[in-house]
Amino acid sequence: MELQGKRIVLGVTGGIAAYKAAELVRLLGKRGADVQVAMTEGATHFVTATTFQALSGQPVYLDQWDARMPNAMAHIDLSRSADLILVAPASADFLARIANGMADDLLATMVLARDCPLLVAPAMNRQMWENPATQRNVAQLLVDGVQLIGPDSGEQACGEVGAGRMVEPEEIVEEVIAFFTPKLLADRKVLMTAGPTFEAIDPVRGITNLSSGRMGYAVARAARQAGAEVTLVSGPVGLQAPQGVTRINVRSALDMQAAVMAHAATSDIFIGVAAVADYRVANAAEHKLKKDTGGIPPIELVENPDILAEVAALKDGPFCVGFAAESRNLEEYAQSKRRKKNIPLIAGNLIQEGFGGDDNRLVLFDDTGVHPLTPAPKSVLARQLVEHIANMIGRA
Ligand code: C5P
Repeated sequence: MELQGKRIVLGVTGGIAAYKAAELVRLLGKRGADVQVAMTEGATHFVTATTFQALSGQPVYLDQWDARMPNAMAHIDLSRSADLILVAPASADFLARIANGMADDLLATMVLARDCPLLVAPAMNRQMWENPATQRNVAQLLVDGVQLIGPDSGEQACGEVGAGRMVEPEEIVEEVIAFFTPKLLADRKVLMTAGPTFEAIDPVRGITNLSSGRMGYAVARAARQAGAEVTLVSGPVGLQAPQGVTRINVRSALDMQAAVMAHAATSDIFIGVAAVADYRVANAAEHKLKKDTGGIPPIELVENPDILAEVAALKDGPFCVGFAAESRNLEEYAQSKRRKKNIPLIAGNLIQEGFGGDDNRLVLFDDTGVHPLTPAPKSVLARQLVEHIANMIGRA
């Protein structure tokens, strides 16, 4: 569990997104964190302390003058024992107070007295977010070293649409994990492909590969959490881009090739996870093919370019990593692909074991031999792959 042994103070301030903080407590706990909740008075108008107490299994702190702390120093004691203070949702009022060093309630006092980092996830009406006063406060907080998560854009509780939505709890948890992840790929530019490609037969039909994109998206997230700047060239999948990852959406192998080649020369690492269709249709129809027009339409196939091999052939190109999904003879096929494409590392998996699901079994093949990873969730395997890549680059 990524947050095992981490002590996190979760500050909850007054805003409708406070109800999502309940889920946040649960998710942080699931990843192993020890969560201590402190609420502002405003937050208690949206969610009760009992909810947080039940979910965190710990008393919730509300009041500066709480008699439960043995020496009446709750603000010092709570913030000193924490590895991180996370405030989610952080209201406009709360940001204004901490940007000005105010200590007018327990949570603000803890923030001022802390000797650990502070992450805040703002949540407010879009006009309040855009107001120059809020922007000034946020700019000051960034200068002070506070890290911001979001806000997202979208539909708001007040019915308006714009920037100011709190980032979803699942993504906040990933940002917390990112915060604690060693920055093995700091300052590295990682370019990736993920998902399937779709090769049109006509405007509504096509040839594609079964690929959920989950493994690739997990690798993109792990690379970014390890400090890399990640560009993800993605075929059509039903997944959200991980926080902080730049996604370029493509459909066909030729689109994917163009997007990759536009960025390859300036990247340090290229990881091809996409299930690229081997062939595309040479005679794709402009209009929908109709039945009953005499015979079965002939579909002429031509070979697609091998994007990974093309990147690997670049002079002074990036460190290249491939994936091999096989239904049998994994080692033999993966190693021969690695040699044929001339890449230092390939991750192989048997398609019976990983397709579409959350878990996978990966075996890494490089010049030093075969490295089987223990079957695990794709997020865990992605982190191990990133570590392996960082080690190989470090040795090179
Ligand atoms: O399809 P194949 O098994 O050869 O895929 C192995 C690796 O090559 C994968 O990393 C895949 O993303 C990459 N590849 C590619 N372009 C292709 C075919 C595969 O980049 N046309």
